Amino acid sequence: MDGNGRWAQQRGLPRPEGHHAGTTAVHEIVCGALDIGLRHLTLYAFSTENWKRDTDEITTILETIRRDLDEGPLRDLDVRQRWLGHPDKLPTELVQALQRAERRTRNRIGLTLTMCINYGGRDEITRTAAALAQAVQAGDIDPHLISEEDFARHLPHPDMPDVDLLWRTGNEQRTSNFLPWHATYAELHFTPGYWPDVDRRDLWQAITEYSRRQRRHGAAPLAITRDDASALPSR
Ligand code: FPP
Repeated sequence: MDGNGRWAQQRGLPRPEGHHAGTTAVHEIVCGALDIGLRHLTLYAFSTENWKRDTDEITTILETIRRDLDEGPLRDLDVRQRWLGHPDKLPTELVQALQRAERRTRNRIGLTLTMCINYGGRDEITRTAAALAQAVQAGDIDPHLISEEDFARHLPHPDMPDVDLLWRTGNEQRTSNFLPWHATYAELHFTPGYWPDVDRRDLWQAITEYSRRQRRHGAAPLAITRDDASALPSR
């Protein structure tokens, strides 16, 4: 969700206004996801690197998210809310609001909305390595036999699905520590507009483009079979 600050700057507004407008865009995109029956939507709302920002801006972002969890319109939608990230350094009220939202919505089935807050991919991988080391020390795993499945089972949230489509707004073409384990085969989609300007049609457009891509996961392109070939128009 990149470009909140520039969106505000462009209008001569303080940066916090960009984050407020970005929150409205979150509501719009969640509604667009529900409209089309999307199963998972994961938002990168605050990274482990965002602590480098000005204290006032950090407070605005975290308080905006806290208020939205407790009072925002997503509360009444068929959305299961989840949180990915670490409680270290986060305000207690926000951690409690995130945990409350997870509890309150755990039986909903429409859309799983995961918010990455105080999340960093390298942090996640480091914690996973530590968990694996502990399992080895406890004699539960043979270090010579550690598999990708073992690694995935020791992730802080082992049930997170792989990322199919990674969309970044704001005219930047990088993934910035976002779900590196899960996004290794993600299709990338970069758009120039700022996050507060997106609406549900942008989400649908992203998914339409994604659906036209051929995902091979390292396999060779599908060969044309004899049956397919006979269905082709003859010259
Ligand atoms: C990146 O834009 C945006 C963020 C670091 C914060 C995103 C947070 C929100 C949209 C609020 C989230 C609300 C909910 C309910 C999840 P930037 O500030 O880096 O923009 P810039 O690159 O133009 O400076």
